[in-house]
Amino acid sequence: MKKYLVIGNPIEHSLSPLIHNHWMKKYRLFDSIYEKRKVEGKELKNIVKEIRDDKIVGVNVTVPFKKLIIPFLDKLDFTAKKTESVNTLFKIKDKVVGYNTDREGFALTMRELFPDPNDSVMPRALHGKNIFILGAGGVTSSIIDSLQHESAKIFLRNRTKKKAEELKKKYAEVEVLDWGKRPSTCDIVINTTSIGLTKNEKINIDFSDCGEDKDKLFYDLIYNPKETNFLKEARLRGNNTMNGQKMFLNQAIYSFNLWTNITPEIDDEVIKLLD
Ligand code: ATR
Repeated sequence: MKKYLVIGNPIEHSLSPLIHNHWMKKYRLFDSIYEKRKVEGKELKNIVKEIRDDKIVGVNVTVPFKKLIIPFLDKLDFTAKKTESVNTLFKIKDKVVGYNTDREGFALTMRELFPDPNDSVMPRALHGKNIFILGAGGVTSSIIDSLQHESAKIFLRNRTKKKAEELKKKYAEVEVLDWGKRPSTCDIVINTTSIGLTKNEKINIDFSDCGEDKDKLFYDLIYNPKETNFLKEARLRGNNTMNGQKMFLNQAIYSFNLWTNITPEIDDEVIKLLD
């Protein structure tokens, strides 16, 4: 059997096995199986060894290991190196390589959300926008990297301010705010924290002055649960909302393609599996 895994902690919320096993069946890869495994930091080295020893073919990496896995890898692809964030592992010529498919998964989601035939890198609709990002964890650099544009202003705040300041060193357009502060105006608010993975968790920020503005987008990277309190409050105010499902699927397409050379389809069954 060819074994694939998603590793993280917590991992219960991950729907990756559902999607990848569906595609494996659909594309007749009957010798392949994809599982989830809750791991501790001390087990990362061994996971990489299992890939090196061909016991596992491919791995997706999620919270909180996207950066922590890096020291154990033999090589990083360009985006993983730039963002210092890895979500996909695969062995190429005896080397366990860390890839980042989150960045392109998010960029593609933005291009789908704001279709723009003239600008394939960053949709024109995002130019000059004030973007407010909550969190500075392993995935946040992928989001900043894909929104990076000289005319976009990115405000960033994180409970541990030092991590936000580290990101600013790499991305000059970022302005770091204190935890508890928010910019006076923002067009897009993106939650990259894990607050909301558990049903009743709440991000305590007052966005009431954004009320009924359909042009304001509240985007949560979390896709399970489908509607976090952050998104629910925005929807009730009348703002535009989107959860992380599309990005999740887009990054999964890129990972599946790396492992199998097949570009899988988001068919009705995939959507049904996620509902
Ligand atoms: P990932 O790899 O998915 O980004 P991570 O690196 O563990 O996961 O990042 C989780 C993010 O959620 C971080 O920004 C974290 O803030 P800290 O850097 O201060 O730890 C944020 N986060 C998690 N729980 C939080 C909480 N209760 N309050 C505020 N921020 C929280």
